[in-house]
Amino acid sequence: MSQAPRTYITTPIYYANGEPHIGHAYTTLLADTLARYQRQAGADVLFLTGTDEHGQKIQEAAEKRGLSPIELCDEMAARFRNAWKRLDIGHDRFMRTTEADHLAVVGAFLTRLDARGHVYADTYRGWYCVHEERFWTEKDLAVGGLCPTCDRPLREIEEKNYFFRMSHFQGDLVRHIEEHPDWIVPETRRNEVLGFLQKPLSDLSISRPRARVSWGIPLPFDSNQTTYVWVDALINYLTASGAIDPNAAADDQGFDDVAGSRWPADLHIIGKDIVTTHAVYWPTLLMGVGLPLPKRILAHGWWTVGRDKMSKSLGNTVDPLELREEFGTDALRWYLLREMPTGSDASYTPERFLARYDELANVLGNLASRVTSMIVRYREGQVPDGDPGGLDGAIVGTLERFHAAMTALRVHEGLDSAMDLARTVNGYVETSEPWALAKTPSRGGELDAALATLTRALVVISALFFPVMPGKMTELAAGLGLNEVPPLQAAARIVPAGLRVRKVPPLFPKPEAVDT
Ligand code: MSP
Repeated sequence: MSQAPRTYITTPIYYANGEPHIGHAYTTLLADTLARYQRQAGADVLFLTGTDEHGQKIQEAAEKRGLSPIELCDEMAARFRNAWKRLDIGHDRFMRTTEADHLAVVGAFLTRLDARGHVYADTYRGWYCVHEERFWTEKDLAVGGLCPTCDRPLREIEEKNYFFRMSHFQGDLVRHIEEHPDWIVPETRRNEVLGFLQKPLSDLSISRPRARVSWGIPLPFDSNQTTYVWVDALINYLTASGAIDPNAAADDQGFDDVAGSRWPADLHIIGKDIVTTHAVYWPTLLMGVGLPLPKRILAHGWWTVGRDKMSKSLGNTVDPLELREEFGTDALRWYLLREMPTGSDASYTPERFLARYDELANVLGNLASRVTSMIVRYREGQVPDGDPGGLDGAIVGTLERFHAAMTALRVHEGLDSAMDLARTVNGYVETSEPWALAKTPSRGGELDAALATLTRALVVISALFFPVMPGKMTELAAGLGLNEVPPLQAAARIVPAGLRVRKVPPLFPKPEAVDT
């Protein structure tokens, strides 16, 4: 028996010091939608998300609230988990970097990096941004000596650090990117990384003195130093893959055969803010320990609020759970994924949200209610045995467009093609006029064909929209007399005749009547 294809999809792990907002929700929903799409196609998916719990930022946030770091992390990890549950995120593992297996894997990874001669100690001088958890050199600084990314004041630091010989891998990395044009998508991000790699790459500081940053994983070869939080965080992708055995004895480095694990990841989904860490630090670290690189990196754009950057300090963050309360989980999922062209920026406005909600209600919700109520009215709820092929061309064309878009990671285009099919099917209702056919007994055969065609189209629609709106599409499939939404590959082949249909109530009712 051939095995199901395996796919490993990751999100960034979110800092455990902020509330989940629509930016985090978007990344996680994008991953969830792609994971559901793959599962629908029969793949054995490992979908990983989690929280990034070490480092100075967390240490200071906990101090401010009078909590120990782990108390803060416990609270925030629970908050992220809860948000993802409400948004119907079906991750397979929620990684916390304070978990014992991760601590062991980080130790094994760094032991191996060191054993291969890629680590050395040196004095570091530079400007540190606690918010971004990264160093800047003098020439990077923004006007007034501020952080060039977030405009916050920096701290000048001089201390002992261990360094990874990242510079050694520059040529190999450039070659990898040039030989794999799809490794980083979209192309703008790929070009950005190649541009960055035109300058000589420096080595990477991978540790902090414990006296300054105590909330971190001790280095296996110097317990007075803690692991730089970005190195710790990136390794989470390996921990969850099972490529490194956390229970191995300290002297063997615990590297299992990668072939038996989920490594390499098929897709790292990240925001455009963290491309360098994922497309430069991470692959070179993997080269350093001799592990294969992730197969693909998708860097999506940034959500703004109106024209402003969304941030805690501006007090304009949009809470996904509030939107969910008002419009329902699936409408929020739809809005975020349909509105943002995958890879580009998008601006959140309540007006655009409402426009996308109306589109759902008027095109998709309306179609489902209309078709099911006609079957109930004209054929007592049983789909007649007519020719269901009336929309064959549109269905085949849509499936092709949908698969092509999803495979190219252009999710908004996939969703657009699904909505286009719903529009075409509404058009078919208008032109076939089942209500007119129902008045003329001699045209019963035509009515049967129209109703069978419409049912088949709705079954396909339920499968197309399922990855983005699993709850509503399960409701639709139940209304069509199916136990579950069929896999997309099978949907167009389901025989509609004989299905017991009941009238589907409005899937996207007026907001005040929404039941989340
Ligand atoms: N902890 C690091 C990631 C480590 S991964 C090994 C981190 N965390 S974060 O909480 O600051 O944000 C992570 C991700 O959230 C971003 O890369 C991006 O995917 C998403 N977003 C945060 N704000 C966002 C917007 N305003 N818009 C879109 N996505 C944004 O970085």
